[in-house]
This record gives sequence, structure tokens and C-alpha cells, in this order.
Amino acid sequence: GAQRPRLTFLGTGYLGATYAVCYAELGYEVIGFDVDQDKIAKLSDGQVPFHEPGLDELLRKNLASGRLRFSTSYEETAEFGDVHFICVGTPQRAGGLGADLSYIESAVTGIAPFLNRKALIVGKSTVPVGTATWVEELVAKSAPESSEIEVAWSPEFLQEGFAVEDVLRPNRIVVGVKSEWADAMLYAAHKGVFDLAATEDREVPVVTTDFATAELVKVAANAFLATKISFINAMAEVCEVSGADVTHLARAIGHDPRIGNKFLQAGLGFGGGCLPKDIRAFQARAQELGAGEALRFLHEVDLINLRRRTRVVTLAAELLGRPAGPAGPNLTGLKVAVLGATFKANTDDIRDAPSLAVAAMLNKTGARVVVFDPQGMDNARKALPDVEYADTLTAAVTDADLVCVLTEWAEFRNADPATLGELAASRKVIDGKNCLDAGQWRAAGWDYRGMGRP
Ligand code: UDX
Repeated sequence: GAQRPRLTFLGTGYLGATYAVCYAELGYEVIGFDVDQDKIAKLSDGQVPFHEPGLDELLRKNLASGRLRFSTSYEETAEFGDVHFICVGTPQRAGGLGADLSYIESAVTGIAPFLNRKALIVGKSTVPVGTATWVEELVAKSAPESSEIEVAWSPEFLQEGFAVEDVLRPNRIVVGVKSEWADAMLYAAHKGVFDLAATEDREVPVVTTDFATAELVKVAANAFLATKISFINAMAEVCEVSGADVTHLARAIGHDPRIGNKFLQAGLGFGGGCLPKDIRAFQARAQELGAGEALRFLHEVDLINLRRRTRVVTLAAELLGRPAGPAGPNLTGLKVAVLGATFKANTDDIRDAPSLAVAAMLNKTGARVVVFDPQGMDNARKALPDVEYADTLTAAVTDADLVCVLTEWAEFRNADPATLGELAASRKVIDGKNCLDAGQWRAAGWDYRGMGRP
């Protein structure tokens, strides 16, 4: 019952798997559900099907505790749970900017027919505003008539690479509810988070609101973060033509607490499974609702972001002394080492990775592109099969005419530029994430170029 509700998480991707494991860790009895038998077999066997620091250990611990199991059966999941969290993906629609809700639809219509008692369905996936109401309609159509199913919305804000920490210690919990019962049930479902905070002398703020606001909070937060990144990258463009240094500029404006120093890292721009698709889906939805003009700036945010990728290619051609002809730069006969394939460090996620996009663009110039990434190789090989992959950082750099650091992995930041200089054909480096120590690289004889820096 309402004291310690049993929880299920539908969809065991980066979001659902992390939640299932962490809520078992918080003391709940949990089922993680997925239609993908392979994923469920792996998770049941104690293997996380993706890279997320700390998650493997917690998975194995909680499988052993008996509080956590995984299932491919809607029936078993429905019978088990009091609160069912929908954690499936909402990718960009093929051939459009809007979100594809087909996974939400199949999760809801998959579980609803088996819900024979009072239960709560909670949406966590990032969705267009209005989706919760549509989910209510789906439930009404597909659940047995006798069942009393309610719907609620509770967006999440986890960052890959910090997912365990973000789920166990969120900086806020947002719930969109329509009844006191749903509110009480969600409070019980989050009690573990509040209890943990209390033992650490923290408080987790809760914002209780309506469906539409709860849905909008997530996309508004992501739109703000994307805008902040594109703002500093726009400043980087201005720095590039005026000889200024955007890293100093960011530090200086970030000291103003109204601005804040987080998310002001200029570089290759944002990628990943959330920010790029979310700002596009948000624009598409606002347009449908007649408020397209309000979000027109997000189109500009997107364009600034994509221009950073082209900038790396232009810079590469410039550094290599092969300025662009009418068909773009021609780098035939040159080897370019691309360090980094994931969209950021500490993940194996390559969705919309700026690094891989640049690798693909460099490949089109005729250069021999050799990619290395500490965790993302398997995913990258599938997504971009027509470049070369090296097994180690040193193999990638050996005989390279240019080194491009495009993900801020510690392995790259801590690499010794003197040693790498011995291996490379020529000491030219582009720091696409402004993550290297420029002074140290220059001292080792490298022609160093950052983003938005002289
Ligand atoms: C993001 C949000 O942060 C998270 O709250 C939401 O739940 C999901 O989307 P995530 O996609 O894991 O999380 O990555 P995040 O750490 O936000 O980085 C997004 C992208 O922006 C990355 O490509 C990152 O390299 C880039 N970035 C981030 C910058 O280019 N500059 C910055 O200053 C910060």
C-alpha cells in the first residue's frame, strides 16, 4: 500500500534502468520492465547494458538483496506494482521536429489491460505538453472497466555520467497530479529520497503542480540549459573575430551569481539524447499550440550549436594549410586523429554527439579519420562505420597530421603532450572542448587551437 508502494519502471534505458536500481537501493521493491529481452537478460544477470559510473555495483548489490528484478511481462509487472513509472524514449520523429510518442503509447496500452486494482501511472519521459491528458485517455480506453487507474507526471533531470547521484540526490522533485490520492502515492514513492536527504541534513524541494506545468518544466529547463550553452558559443564566435578569449570571458561573467558559472563552457556545443531533440520538439509543440513565435529563438540556439561543428572543420583546414575550395576543404592524404566519440565524457552515449558529427564531416574532406574513445567505440562503430577506429589513444595519434580532441575525457586531459608529440607526424591540435592545458601543449611544441580563443 501507500506506506512503501511497490514500484515499476517501464523502459530500461539510461533513465529507467538507473531509476529501477537506485529506488531498490533506497529500499523499495522494484521491477524494471522492457520489451527488449536482451536488455532484460543482461540486467537480470547483473550487467548494465550501457556505461554509467557506479551503476554496475548498485545493480548487483540490489539484485542480491532480492528487492530488484527485471521482467519482459506486462502481466507480471502490472500485478506487482502500485506505481508504474513510464521511462521509455521519446525520440525525434522521423521526418519532423516533433517527438515520437509511439513508445509511450505501447507502454501504456501494454500494461493497462492487466491493471486489475488501484494503481498510479506516472510519466517520466520528456514529452510535449498535453501528453499526460492523452495518456489518461489511453488508459481509459485500454484498462479494465473495474480498475481505478490514475495518471500523474513527474519529470526527471538526471545527467548521464552523474545519473546515480542525480537520482538518489535530486535537486528537486516535480509532480503534476490531479488528486490527493495521487499526491500521497507519489510522496510515498519518493519517501526514500526524502529520508536519505534528512540523514544528510538536506532538504529536497518539491513542486506540486498541474499536468501541463509538470510537462513543461522539463522542456523549459532543457531549453534554458541549451540557450546558456549557445549563448557562450555565440560569444566564442565573436571572440574568434576579435582576438578575445571566451574562457576568460565566461569566468568573468560567471562570477555574477545572477548569471552563474555553470554551463558556460564554450566548445563544440551540446549533443546527446536530450537537449538537441528537446528544443526541437518544444518548438514544434509551441507552433501547434499557436505560440511558435515565443520559441523562435530556440531555432537560433540550434543553429549556433550546429555552427560550432563546421567551425572545427574550417579550423582543421586552416591549420593544415588547405583552405576550402568551392566544394569545401580537401584534406586528402592527411591523417586526422579524432579523440572522443561520445557526446560528453563518462558515458558511452553517442546520440547526436558533436564529436562523431565532426568525424563524419572530416571524413568527407578526404582525410583519413582515425577515432578513439575510452567507452564509446562499440556504439560509434555502428553509427559511423566508414571511418577508422584505433584501439588506443596512442595508436590514433601515431603519424597524425592533426589531433582533434572532441570529448573531454580525463584520459585526454591527462595525456602527456610531449609523449604524444613524439608519435604525431606534426604537432597540431584542436581542442574542441577547451579542456586541455593550452600552456602545457604549447610548451611541448604543439600549435594549439581552442574554441573561441586566440
Ligand atoms: C541534460 C540535462 O542536463 C539533464 O538535466 C536532462 O535530464 C537531460 O539532458 P545530459 O544530456 O546527460 O543531460 O548532458 P549535459 O551534461 O546536460 O550536457 C549536454 C551537452 O551540453 C553535452 O554535449 C555537453 O558536452 C554540452 N555542454 C554542457 C557544453 O557544451 N557546455 C557546457 O557548459 C555544458
